[in-house]
Amino acid sequence: MNNKVTWKAGTLLAPVPVVMVTCQGSDSKPNIITIGWTGTICSEPPMVSISVRPGRHSYKLIKESGEFAINIPSKKLAKETDLCGVLSGSKYDKFHETGLTIGKSNSIKAPIIMECPINLECKIKQEIPLGSHNMFIAEITSVQITKDLIDNKGEFMTEKANLLGYAHGNYVPIGKSLGKFGFSVKKK
Ligand SMILES: Cc1cc2nc3c(=O)[nH]c(=O)nc-3n(C[C@H](O)[C@H](O)[C@H](O)COP(=O)(O)O)c2cc1C
Repeated sequence: MNNKVTWKAGTLLAPVPVVMVTCQGSDSKPNIITIGWTGTICSEPPMVSISVRPGRHSYKLIKESGEFAINIPSKKLAKETDLCGVLSGSKYDKFHETGLTIGKSNSIKAPIIMECPINLECKIKQEIPLGSHNMFIAEITSVQITKDLIDNKGEFMTEKANLLGYAHGNYVPIGKSLGKFGFSVKKK
């Protein structure tokens, strides 16, 4: 029995991370843009991509500065994440609107968002026009982690961080761990 229907080809990949990207252009006013089209693309050097529509206010800031920070939200930041994806920095100060706190980056001018458990500071290596979006390929130059989320072995406590995901237009919580990498072959 065939239990499938064929849909028009589209961006159905899910779940994906949803992140708040901070950027700062030459006017020195920091902005936040919500990005769903992001991913890890290399381990050594650590690299990520974000895809941004060239019409966005943030696109100009990212392009001008050549850098940005990826701030990974927890599920309690779902509302702020959505707000930064519907308001434009051309009209609103999104740090003011959300009440999120500006933090200092180690390696770039753009700030980080203090409330986000993980912050990745990124410097752009390449820009690829793809169609609706331009993809920025960037190297992660510094990582900041909220202290309370590191256990006594120095590991990040993913479950405790309550990270947020995105699937087909919905914000979804990342639930409990079902097993560590390699658990399927681990001897009992
Ligand atoms: C969940 C979500 C995901 C989004 N993903 C992207 C994305 O990957 N790329 C993009 O260009 N815009 C994306 N947007 C839209 C921008 O975040 C939105 O247009 C924002 O208001 C632009 O802000 P700015 O004008 O300050 O640059 C997304 C919005 C939401 C709510």
